[in-house]
Amino acid sequence: QVKADLQEQTAADEAAIAAAAELLRTGGTVAFPTETVYGLGADARQTSAVENVFVAKGRPSDNPLIVHIADEAQLRTLVKPYGDTERALMRRFWPGPLTLVLPALEGAVSPRVTAGLDTVAVRMPDHAVALRLIAESGCPVAAPSANRSGRPSPTVAEHVREDLNGRIDGIVDGGPTGVGLESTVVQVEAPGVVRILRPGGITPVQLREAAPTVLLDESLEALERKDATMVPQERAVVSDSPAVGTATAVPAAAPRSPGMKYTHYAPRGSMQLVHGEPDDVRAYITKALQAAAAEGEITGVLTYDEHAASYHADAVISCGSLMKLETAAQGLYAALREFDARGVQRIWAEACSSDGIGLALMNRLEKAAGHQIVYLT
Ligand code: TXA
Ligand code: MG
Repeated sequence: QVKADLQEQTAADEAAIAAAAELLRTGGTVAFPTETVYGLGADARQTSAVENVFVAKGRPSDNPLIVHIADEAQLRTLVKPYGDTERALMRRFWPGPLTLVLPALEGAVSPRVTAGLDTVAVRMPDHAVALRLIAESGCPVAAPSANRSGRPSPTVAEHVREDLNGRIDGIVDGGPTGVGLESTVVQVEAPGVVRILRPGGITPVQLREAAPTVLLDESLEALERKDATMVPQERAVVSDSPAVGTATAVPAAAPRSPGMKYTHYAPRGSMQLVHGEPDDVRAYITKALQAAAAEGEITGVLTYDEHAASYHADAVISCGSLMKLETAAQGLYAALREFDARGVQRIWAEACSSDGIGLALMNRLEKAAGHQIVYLT
C-alpha cells in the first residue's frame, strides 16, 4: 500500500519522504533526487535490498555503489580513520557532488555495495530532499543513478519512470536535479595528492582549493592530452573519407573506478563524437549527415545553442550554451534521451572544451559514443 501511495505522490512533501524512509528501512528500493542525478537507493547494510538495486538496473555486480550519508556521525559508522586531505575535501565540498573513496570498516555495509573491495565510496548530497530522506531513514543509503544500466542517467523523475517503472518500490519526485552530471569520484593517494577516478560536478580546479596536487586516472588522460595516444580509426564512418582532416580514435586504458569501463549514458542510436575547429566540425558533420540521409537513416546532431542553426537533420538538439557549459551539463542526459524519443539512428555530437565542467561533459559524451571519437586535425 505504501508502494501505491508513493507512485501517486508526485511532490516530495513530508508524507512522501516519510513513506520513502520507511521503505528504505524495511528493505525496499526508492528513487530520490540529488543535486547531480536521481539515485536508486537501498539500505547499504541489507544485502537483499542492495541486490534488488542491481536487479532493477540490470547492473553488473562487479561495479560498486556510492553510499549516501546525511551527517558526519553516519560517516564514522562506515569508514576507518582517514587523513587531513580527506578532511579538507569533506569540509570544502560536502554536502556536494564529490564522492570520496575511503578505507571501509569491515562489516559496515553489505559486500554487494563495495563489490568486495576494502574501500567504500561515500558522499553527502547537497539536496534538501535527499538529506531529509537519508536522515529520516537512519540508513546509510547505497544509490547508483536511477537508470537502467547503460542508459543516460535521470535528471527528472519522468526519466526514472521511463526506465524503472514497476521494477522499484517507489519514487520521490523532487523536480529537476541541479548539476545534471554525476559526482566527481576521488581517492586520496598521499597527503595533498588526490586522484580523480571519475570526473563530475566538482572540477579539477575546484579540487585544488583543498589539495595541491590533482591527478587524473590514466583512463581519463586522453581527455586532456588528445594528441598523446592516438591510433588510426579502424572503420571509416562515411563511405568516402571526410573532406577535412584525418579521423583518429583514442584507446582507453583500464580505469581504476570499476564503473568507468562500461559503455554508459548511451542513446539507442549509434553516436560519434567529433573534435576539431568549429568550421571543420561543421563541415564534417554536414557531409556525414548528407551521406546518412541518402541511405534513408534517421539522423541527429547533438550541438550547442550557438551552433544549432547551422545543421539540417531529423533532430538537431542543443544541450545548452558553449558560453556556459554548466547549462550543457544540465541538459546533456535529457538531450540524449530525446534522440531515443525521436527514433534517431545515427547521431553526431560536437565536442567542446574539457575545461571546468567540460571534463565531465566530454567524459560522458565519449562513453555515450562508445568510444567512436573523431579528431579533425
Ligand atoms: O552523483 C552521483 O554520484 C550519483 C548520485 C545518485 O549520487 N550516483 C552515481 O552512482 O553516479 P553510480 O553507481 O552510477 O556510480 C558510482 C561510481 C562508479 O563509477 C563506481 O565504479 C565508483 O563510483 N565506485 C564506487 N565504489 C568505489 C570504490 N570503492 N572504489 C572505486 N570506485 C568506486
Ligand atoms: Mg550510473
